[in-house]
Amino acid sequence: MRVSPPTLETERLLLRPLVEDDAEALHRTQSDPEHMRFYPHPFSRTETEQWIARTLSSYEARGFGLLAVEDGATGEFLGNVGPTIQHVDGVDEIELGWSITPARSRQGIATEAAIACRDWVFDAIGPDRVISLILPANEPSAGVARNLGMTVWKQTIFGSVQWLHDVWRSDAVAPRERASRVPGTSARSERSPRSTPT
Ligand SMILES: CC(C)(COP(=O)(O)OP(=O)(O)OC[C@H]1O[C@@H](n2cnc3c(N)ncnc32)[C@H](O)[C@@H]1OP(=O)(O)O)[C@@H](O)C(=O)NCCC(=O)NCCS
Repeated sequence: MRVSPPTLETERLLLRPLVEDDAEALHRTQSDPEHMRFYPHPFSRTETEQWIARTLSSYEARGFGLLAVEDGATGEFLGNVGPTIQHVDGVDEIELGWSITPARSRQGIATEAAIACRDWVFDAIGPDRVISLILPANEPSAGVARNLGMTVWKQTIFGSVQWLHDVWRSDAVAPRERASRVPGTSARSERSPRSTPT
């Protein structure tokens, strides 16, 4: 079934498709060396623009990709979270990724956004599982995976610099079972993009 990148509401957040105009806000975070310590290097402005361009191409090709995360009350840009395709050990996997501004760290924002994305992926795309590729030293990211009920499945060498990653995994569960397993999962809805009158 063909899908389109969604707009999702959670208790505190609005998740929407990324647009080229997000480059400045996204780059403030992606150029921060401390925030990017688990990546090969902080991004240049061009790399941030390429990141958004790749996401827009993924929307075109697959109907999904990373989503912008906004504060639902203020509209402040907080980061990007969502599904991408990653080729892991010869298989195309749906990976959930997350990056949230350090200014709002440890407020449960990545967890809340990732739960909404995971639920959307299982409902709209219907894979058997989703994964997250996380460096063993990246404790904040592992914490998000743990909050989602994911567990480490295996390790793999991955990425442009061929680092060893933990492959965290969550298997598909029925919506009713999912809601009772993970607090807060029922507090989200899908709606049409903001520009559309409601
Ligand atoms: C990983 C990241 C998205 C977490 O965002 P966040 O909104 O702060 O995450 P949450 O508040 O939902 O925290 C989830 C869990 O992560 C862990 N965690 C978060 N920040 C942490 C920190 N600084 N130190 C240790 N654990 C941390 C905790 O277990 C936390 O759960 P808890 O608060 O219930 O104990 C954010 O730190 C980030 O963007 N990091 C840089 C980019 C990155 O590495 N992305 C992942 C690539 S795999």
